[in-house]
Order: sequence, then C-alpha cells, then structure tokens
Amino acid sequence: MTVWYVLSAFALILIATGLLYWVLVNGMYREDVNDLGDILQNATLLLRASNGGSAASPGFEPTRTARYRSDIYVRVLDEDGRTLVETPGLASQLPAPTQAQLAAIRSRHGVSRQILSRRGEPFLTLIAPIAAPRAAAGRQYMQIAMDRAHDEFLLARYRERLWRILGVSLVLCSVVGYLIARGGMRPIEGISRTAERIRATTLHERISTGGLPDELRGLAETFNSMLDRLEQSFRHISQFSDDVAHELRTPINNLRGEIEVALGKARSAEEYREVLGSCFEECTRISRLIRTLLFLARSDTAADALQREPIDLGEELAKVGAFYEPAAGEGGVRLRVACTAGLRAELDRTLLQQAVGNLVSNALAHTPAGGSVEIAASARGQDVVIAVADTGCGIAQEHLARVFERFYRIEQSRTGSQQNAGLGLAVVKSIVGRHGGRVEIESAVGEGTRVSLILPPPAAVGRA
Ligand SMILES: Nc1ncnc2c1ncn2[C@@H]1O[C@H](COP(=O)(O)OP(=O)(O)OP(=O)(O)O)[C@@H](O)[C@H]1O
Ligand SMILES: [Mg+2]
Repeated sequence: MTVWYVLSAFALILIATGLLYWVLVNGMYREDVNDLGDILQNATLLLRASNGGSAASPGFEPTRTARYRSDIYVRVLDEDGRTLVETPGLASQLPAPTQAQLAAIRSRHGVSRQILSRRGEPFLTLIAPIAAPRAAAGRQYMQIAMDRAHDEFLLARYRERLWRILGVSLVLCSVVGYLIARGGMRPIEGISRTAERIRATTLHERISTGGLPDELRGLAETFNSMLDRLEQSFRHISQFSDDVAHELRTPINNLRGEIEVALGKARSAEEYREVLGSCFEECTRISRLIRTLLFLARSDTAADALQREPIDLGEELAKVGAFYEPAAGEGGVRLRVACTAGLRAELDRTLLQQAVGNLVSNALAHTPAGGSVEIAASARGQDVVIAVADTGCGIAQEHLARVFERFYRIEQSRTGSQQNAGLGLAVVKSIVGRHGGRVEIESAVGEGTRVSLILPPPAAVGRA
C-alpha cells in the first residue's frame, strides 16, 4: 500500500513539475523572441534616422517584459550576405548568414532560431529584411543576436532546485504514505486481533466500532452481527446437548437401578422376566428418543433431501385418522377427518404422516373422554392448511410460545413427563420448516387447542 501510494504520488508530482518546467522554458524562449523583435524595430528606426529618414514609426509598441541582463549584438548585411556593419565582437561569436539563408527569408517579420556560437554558447538570432537607404541598391538585412547563456544559467539553476525539491518530496511522500497506510491498517489489525481471540468460550467478544472510520464501521457491524448469530446458535446447541444428556440420564439410571435391585439377591424366573420386560420397555423408549434426536439433527443440517410427491390429502389424513382411531375409542374421544374434496399437495409423505401423527397423539393425550379431535385440510390461497383441533385442556398463554422448543413440556402435563420427551412439536416445526411452511397454534385453557400447519407449494419455496 505504501509503495503504491509513494509511486503514484511521486509520479503525479513528477508530471506536474515537468509540465511547469516546459511552460517556463517555452515562456522564456518566446519572451526572448519578442525582445529581439523589439530591438530589431528600434535598431531599424535608428538606422533610418541616421540615413536621414523619419524616426517616427506609427504602430510600434515595445513589448512589456521583465528585463534581465543579456548581451545583444546587431549586424547589417546587404543582399549578397556581406556584412556592412556589426557590433564589435559578433564576428568572433557568430558567422554571418549565407546568401542562401538570406534569400530564404520571405516574411517581413524575419526568422528567429536558436544556434550555438563558435564557443558553444546558445544564441537566439532574428534576421529580417529592412528598408535600405535610398543610395544603396538592392535589399538589406538586419541580424539581431541575443546571448542566451544567462537564460540557460537560470534554467540550469531552476532544474537543479527542481531535482532537490523532487528528492525531498519523494522522502515526504514515503513518510506520509507509510503513515497513511499504517493509520488505515490499524483498525483492520484491531478487527483481526479480535477475530483471532474469539473462541467458543469468548463468543461474547465484539469489535468496538467507536473509533472506526465509516468505511470500516459497516464491516465491523456485519462481523458483530455474525458473532451475535453464532453466539445464539452456539448457546442453542450447548443448551440442546445439555438437555440431551439430561434426558438420557434418567432412563439409563432407571435401567441401572432396576438391574441393580434384581441382582441384589437370587430371584425366581418370573421376577427376572418382569425385570427384563421393564428393561426392554426402557430401552425401547431410549432408542425412540435417540431416533427422534437424530431426526432433528439431520433436519437442522438438511442432510436428507425431501421426497416430495403429489399427495391426495383426504386419503392421507384418513389413513392417519384410522391409525389413531383405536386409541381415540379407548379414551372415549371422537376423532373426525374433514378435508376439502380433491385437495392435493406435493409433500413428503412419511414426514407428513409423522407431523400430523404427533399432533393427533398430543390432542388425544390432552382431551378427556367425551371430547373430540378433528383433523382438517383446506386451501388458503396457494397454501395448504392442515389443522388438528381438540376440545381438550388447552395450553396457558405463557407456555404457548415455548411448546415448540425441544424438550419443552408443561409441568402440569397430565400425561406425566416420564413418558413424553417433549420433542413432538419440535419435530412438527422442523418438518414444516423443511417444507418451507410455518406452524400456528391457538389455544384456550379448558376449551381446546388448534395447531395449523401452513404449507406453501414447492414453487413458492424455491422462489423464497
Ligand atoms: N393439544 C394439546 N393440548 C394441550 N397441551 C398440549 C397439546 N399439545 C401439546 N401440548 C403441551 O405441549 C407440550 C409439548 O408437546 P410435545 O408434543 O412437544 O411434547 P410431548 O407431547 O410432551 O412429548 P413427545 O411428543 O415428545 O412424546 C406437552 O408437554 C404438552 O403439555
Ligand atoms: Mg407430543
């Protein structure tokens, strides 16, 4: 970053300085040419006056320029290139122009150019035709020469200073570039230090956005909100594993206890059979719990793809109803299935049966004899709504929001927590979630509960 900054800043300074130098050199050259023009005009006037002509020349205005010291030489030539008169010393500096060069001068304003003297010094010369005195035959030319050594000296000094200034600015650019880069990188270093420090145990740490520049504050905030989500998920997961350990401890302790008691002394075959039967029941419960946990874990990571197929909901719900009919009859509860005729949906058949089954089993468990349970399906816009309603004990408002949490059981549950894991509704929610839908629950204590599964068509899920 520093190197790029230094290179680009220095390149810009170099270009700007070069341009300014070029403007200066050009300006000085043009000034000199103008000066020569003025001098030529003056000399011509003087010459004309000395030849008896008039010194007045309308329309001649000397150019206003800053004056500086430089030697000026004048030479008057005839048409054949012979020198008529010249400033002493000019001949040793500059040879007279040839006849051919003179003949090439067409413009009344003459021709200016820079040449090197015999001693190698730069001279700016201007040659122009002048009005010859009446006595003389043919044309005459005047050559004005200006020694530009002084200009060159000034430019050389200027160049030398420029190089020095450029050297200093290179150093300054490097220092400033380094400081800017370091200043810009410091907050990023802070962010990366925080990121490095974060472990599972320090997920609460956040990047402080206080002194950050605007460009980085957005990044830090995004990073912090990612940490929020991670922390929440992590808390969720550790709570869940805590619960799992807790849930498995009770049945395994029961198993151990029963076996320990049975082994305490010699028992009859009948007694052993009884203990083994009870152990078998406990094992079945544990394996069911583990299966459910595995199902939820796989749902979380969406490890298994949905097996969607077109389903006639009336037919499918009737099957679930038939499955639970004996249990309902035993409990003295009326079980009814009501479905809009011909209602179809593309769902995973096994998961649908499991979700509706969990709801019906809850409803039957919480509805006293004489009550009723209804499984209904209807269309709501593009969605399909499957609802299980009962006339049971209902759920108090404070529990309503939490019944879908894993392992959440209402303490006063009449079925007793020993038999129920508190995972049924969590599984329902997970199944509906995998179908891209949502669950709604309404309940009034003493009146009953209605749980509705709202399932959108697969196309709508794909778009979302
Ligand atoms: N229809 C209902 N009427 C009254 N209470 C209900 C009803 N359905 C669920 N609940 C309450 O919500 C709690 C959570 O239900 P969920 O199905 O998740 O667990 P569970 O039935 O206790 O155990 P599992 O279904 O895992 O055997 C239950 O403990 C129960 O008290
Ligand atoms: Mg249940």
